[in-house]
Amino acid sequence: MLQPSRRPLKSHAVPRTPLRLHSDQIEAEVAERVETLVNKIEKRSAVVGIVGLGYVGLPFAVEKAKVGFKVLGIEHNVERAERVNRGDNYIPDIPDDEFRQLVHEGLIEAVTDYAQVPDMDVIVICVPTPLTKNLNPDLQFVEGVTRELSRYLRPGQLISLESTTYPGTTQEVMLPILETSGLKAERDFFLAHSPERVDPGNARYTTKNTNKVVGGVGPLSHKVAVTFYSQTIEKVVQVSSAEAAEMVKVYENTFRAVNIALVNELALLCDRMGLNVWEVLDAAFTKPFGIMPFYPGPGVGGHCIPLDPHYLEWKAREYNFNTHFIALAGEINRGMPRFVRDKAFRVLNRLGVAPSRSKILILGVSYKRDLGDFRESPAVEVIKLLEEDGADVVYHDPHVPSFEEHGVSMDSVPLTDELLQEVNLVIITADHTSVDYQRVVDLATHVLDTRNATKKVTKNREKITLL
Ligand SMILES: NC(=O)c1ccc[n+]([C@@H]2O[C@H](COP(=O)([O-])OP(=O)(O)OC[C@H]3O[C@@H](n4cnc5c(N)ncnc54)[C@H](O)[C@@H]3O)[C@@H](O)[C@H]2O)c1
Repeated sequence: MLQPSRRPLKSHAVPRTPLRLHSDQIEAEVAERVETLVNKIEKRSAVVGIVGLGYVGLPFAVEKAKVGFKVLGIEHNVERAERVNRGDNYIPDIPDDEFRQLVHEGLIEAVTDYAQVPDMDVIVICVPTPLTKNLNPDLQFVEGVTRELSRYLRPGQLISLESTTYPGTTQEVMLPILETSGLKAERDFFLAHSPERVDPGNARYTTKNTNKVVGGVGPLSHKVAVTFYSQTIEKVVQVSSAEAAEMVKVYENTFRAVNIALVNELALLCDRMGLNVWEVLDAAFTKPFGIMPFYPGPGVGGHCIPLDPHYLEWKAREYNFNTHFIALAGEINRGMPRFVRDKAFRVLNRLGVAPSRSKILILGVSYKRDLGDFRESPAVEVIKLLEEDGADVVYHDPHVPSFEEHGVSMDSVPLTDELLQEVNLVIITADHTSVDYQRVVDLATHVLDTRNATKKVTKNREKITLL
């Protein structure tokens, strides 16, 4: 039996053992409710509802449908819901044919409202968890979905939150909202947290073979949730509470944010000292133990690393605790686009071009190699900063035909010879593998490479400035 983690009990904490408030008859009813749901899940006759069919929700829907569950997705973006129902896949990690086939067989269907919630046995929530402008958690999506669910909840359902969030969200925010339905957690419905760890673009580790952490708000919720996730995930890692599961995920992303900040800081120092940070790192990572590769870049992007640590930072304040590493990592990583802007202007000055009269090509606006996801991409911030100083900026990205983010809206331009020859500077902000970097360097006047994408370029290396 798992032992709950030691933590100061707060007034709103619930007991971790089965509630003793019930009469024997109610306890028997609850036990039967659990068994019925567990049986349905094991027989794959349970209907799985997934709220939010994005980078997390849609691959999860596919995994569940592949083993025979009927999946009903609730997606408030009408265009996305229609695409799902046409079998038209929009998430790169999902094979198109496989998706079309599952939709064709009636195993995946999308709706835009909550009326069918009573038909669902398990409801998994995969909606965004952004930050406010002041870097505080913005739980409007999670709260909104939970309120909708509370209107349709029926006894015998499992609700699992997969969105990344601060420890306490499932227990302190969702549970009270769900109980406004008149139903009780651990008696009528079951509630758990199981953070999604998907790494978009990673062909080796997918939703199916990435260990899944699960923690319930009580032992019954825990049991049902573990049963549910064990159907499709190779290894389920059980923790003693929903809060522990929430903490696991924010810690993982904080770990990345802090380590990226560390190499970014090293890059800033190497710039001052005239050292090639990439050479230093390549050599450092030859050590077979005690080190792990992380690389510098123009900043951090995506829906996780720039945001999630601040969820923990915010929660820690409730305990009069300052998360120094998170604050410092955020400061360094958020400062990187400004460093790229400054370095670009230094290069332009060396070339005798006034930054305000320069034309600059940004090569790659997605936040990560070979992906089309530009959310929180540092390249967008670089573009903004360059434009603020009067530079004429265009971009090319084979994976992002156009984007609108943080008030910047642009269309990708073709990567023609003329364009490469015309611009004063090319700044590589995403190292997409389909780009011929030797050609870029050969044709361009100069290249500022923030990703070491030109590592294999052999000719004209004098035209390259590395981050
Ligand atoms: N993208 C990743 O790599 C990744 C990895 C692990 C965890 N996460 C976490 O998973 C969560 C979801 O992220 P994502 O990348 O899948 O986001 P996403 O934006 O790709 O998908 C979210 C979907 O939810 C839909 N949605 C929003 N509000 C809704 C509502 N009220 N009802 C129905 N649908 C609604 C949106 O239209 C969208 O399609 C976040 O908390 C994120 O931090 C993301």
